[in-house]
Amino acid sequence: MTMQGKVCLIKGATNGIGKSTAHELARMGATVVIVGRDAQKTSQVVEEIRAASGNDTVDSLLADLSSQQDVRRLANEFESKYSHLHVLLNNAGAVFMRRQLSVDGIEMTFALNLLAPFLLTNVLLDKIQASAPARIINVSSGAHTSGKIEFANLQGERGYSHRAYGNSKLATLLFTMELAHRLDGTGVTANALHPGLVSTGFGKNNPGFLMKTIRAVVPLIARSPEKGADTSIYLASSPGVQSVTGKYFVGRKVTQPAPQATDSAVARKLWDVSAEMVHLADGLPAEA
Ligand SMILES: NC(=O)c1ccc[n+]([C@@H]2O[C@H](COP(=O)([O-])OP(=O)(O)OC[C@H]3O[C@@H](n4cnc5c(N)ncnc54)[C@H](OP(=O)(O)O)[C@@H]3O)[C@@H](O)[C@H]2O)c1
Repeated sequence: MTMQGKVCLIKGATNGIGKSTAHELARMGATVVIVGRDAQKTSQVVEEIRAASGNDTVDSLLADLSSQQDVRRLANEFESKYSHLHVLLNNAGAVFMRRQLSVDGIEMTFALNLLAPFLLTNVLLDKIQASAPARIINVSSGAHTSGKIEFANLQGERGYSHRAYGNSKLATLLFTMELAHRLDGTGVTANALHPGLVSTGFGKNNPGFLMKTIRAVVPLIARSPEKGADTSIYLASSPGVQSVTGKYFVGRKVTQPAPQATDSAVARKLWDVSAEMVHLADGLPAEA
């Protein structure tokens, strides 16, 4: 498998699963653009990946993905530097044990895990479609099974718990399904995945005792980031899934998600609500 000539944009590639994915795609010869939020850490990761892969076409862009202004600026910077986008990997994500608001006044889990991929994907969609065959990959989680989409409580306004994470990963699956539907016949695929339980920096933004305890135990039972990146790399590069779309993958296999992730009416409504929240009235792909 070679990824030479392919341009990949990977969000959340300064740590964990995204970083391992970026390493491997660079090793396969792709032009890899990693998105980080800390300038120093991001440039260190770029150097590390270049040195380990022997691939000089590794670049970076900076954005705090919980900020819509940053996401739009990131898209503009990518647009002005690159003529193609063959693989968009929406990998960045986090859990927030306590309710916090983004700079846009939106609950952080929803802003980072759903709205950032939704907005970035939509603003880059013309470029992605012009690069077809192309792939959009959204990192979801097995935690989606505990998720519930309540439109009257989307941002935990009426009671918040860490379940917001499962809700956001369910929303990721619904977004992927609706996106695949809208992109039908364009040569652009959209798939989602669960990476398994992976020992990463996940949860480190939460100072409480519970998350500290979980983070102490996870490395004893979880897989490495290299193994956790396997399905992302597979979806980004394998010719075998070139035309597979709208699916949920676990361990490289198409897997049936929870029933609430297959509700197309909820997926459509969530799309419309998300579009409003990111002020994306125009430029949406037409419904198939
Ligand atoms: N680990 C697991 O067991 C597991 C299981 C299921 C799904 N997942 C999903 O896998 C994905 C990757 O997570 P991971 O486990 O690799 O966690 P991680 O090690 O914490 O990596 C998360 C990445 O996202 C970046 N990020 C977080 N908030 C950001 C923001 N506001 N703006 C820009 N970048 C931001 C982080 O940047 P910094 O380097 O600056 O922190 C880091 O590069 C997430 O979507 C997660 O929900 C993980």
